[in-house]
Amino acid sequence: MFSQRELALERFTSATKNPAQTPSALNAASAAASRLMSIQFDGCKSTIPFNATLGNILDSVRAAGLPAPYACKAGVCATCRAKLLSGQVTMNQNYGLTPRNSPRATS
Ligand code: FES
Repeated sequence: MFSQRELALERFTSATKNPAQTPSALNAASAAASRLMSIQFDGCKSTIPFNATLGNILDSVRAAGLPAPYACKAGVCATCRAKLLSGQVTMNQNYGLTPRNSPRATS
């Protein structure tokens, strides 16, 4: 038996429907269009607009020229994981975050 610290997870997904194009994702992106986001990346703070055309925070951050890391863009690897300090987000797909790391976590 392994403890949680001894286990490493690796998840895979197939390229199917783009989660950013589901009706609920499109509605959430439309509602957030042009809202400003305060981003802290590598110790530097920036204020950038949410780009509804791109449909997600990661691509909006990268479009603003910040080199936010990513690998799958499908909610699987958690490479793009960020900490929400205030406000609200909608997460359309989540395979990579544990309940402890979820935006809905209480601590
Ligand atoms: S890049 Fe893989 S979950 Fe975001």
